[in-house]
Amino acid sequence: MLVLGIESSCDETGVAVVESMGALTPVLLAHALHSQIEMHQAYGGVVPELASRDHIRRVLPLAGQVLRESGKSLDQIDVVAYTRGPGLAGALLVGAGVACALGAALDKPVLGVHHLEGHLLSPFLSADPPQFPFVALLVSGGHTQLMRVDGVGRYQMLGETIDDAAGEAFDKSAKLMGLGYPGGPALSRLAQQGRGDAYKLPRPLLHSGDLDFSFAGLKTAVMTQAKKIALAQGAPVEAWPLALRADLAASTEAAIVDVLVKKTMMALQATGLERVVVAGGVGANRLLRQQLDTACARRHIRVHYPELHLCTDNGAMIAMAAAMRLQSGVQRATAVYAFDVKPRWPLAELSECMDPGSSPG
Ligand code: KG4
Ligand code: ZN
Repeated sequence: MLVLGIESSCDETGVAVVESMGALTPVLLAHALHSQIEMHQAYGGVVPELASRDHIRRVLPLAGQVLRESGKSLDQIDVVAYTRGPGLAGALLVGAGVACALGAALDKPVLGVHHLEGHLLSPFLSADPPQFPFVALLVSGGHTQLMRVDGVGRYQMLGETIDDAAGEAFDKSAKLMGLGYPGGPALSRLAQQGRGDAYKLPRPLLHSGDLDFSFAGLKTAVMTQAKKIALAQGAPVEAWPLALRADLAASTEAAIVDVLVKKTMMALQATGLERVVVAGGVGANRLLRQQLDTACARRHIRVHYPELHLCTDNGAMIAMAAAMRLQSGVQRATAVYAFDVKPRWPLAELSECMDPGSSPG
């Protein structure tokens, strides 16, 4: 079965073709991506209207490209999948509209995919895919969640952020440091030249006894620290010596990573599971990978990451999630082409999702 997947929830247009055969893990045949980062950079963040218009421009050429690269023709596609939510409404509508139009024109069924489930299952695109069950740390621009994952569509929320997401903490702190958009990778690059223990920043909810996160206070602490330094330097952040900026960046990164790693280890302990999957844009963070690898190696726990280039948004994870949902039988593709999108869509609403209290069996 061939699945064409389209991602357009935010600032990347992604298209991919995945093939699934029997019970084997589906295989990625080709994927293509257009990032809008350069376009939004001038505005310091994503401009939704511009994002939608750019998705319209890119999606069909990218679809043509992946079909050529996979050696498949449009009429060989069995299912057209698209990101139904969460994300920017206008941007989602582009992918949903194109997918449903393609489905209707080809007389093939369509399937709307949850963006976070795409991230969650993206490590299955790697050469060494994980096995169920596992603990998932989902860290993206809008979400920070720890989940117990027993199978496709069998997700039990263990903890999540009560305010900002980890990616947001990176992005907002980066903005305070004059690093532009997207802040996470830029802050992380700068941090490599600094000392993570230079400034004492809070580790919110580290000792809360549960698996929830909170990053809003950290952002405020970074702002307070930045103001102090600016006062002492008599200059705005852009004019500080590189070492100072790097120290603040490294201390911020250390605080975020510290909380993510410790809470993930707590989740592993609480569930008794011996496998962890990290997914979402922040999963590309070098320090997070290093520290989690070290902590897990000590306890003989396997860690799986998506390949680096598949950590941030892409079409491959959407095609993969669709293929895995179909393969496992938790969802069927339908020939209903009247689409809607879900800009806000908690993962817990997925049909097979379990209540936190229910047994994972
Ligand atoms: O998963 P993603 O591509 O989009 C969402 O679904 O939100 O994640 C984007 C987030 C942004 O906040 C970005 O700054 C962050 O992931 N990010 C990173 C790194 N690469 C991307 N944060 C820290 N270090 C990185 N290397
Ligand atoms: Zn994402």
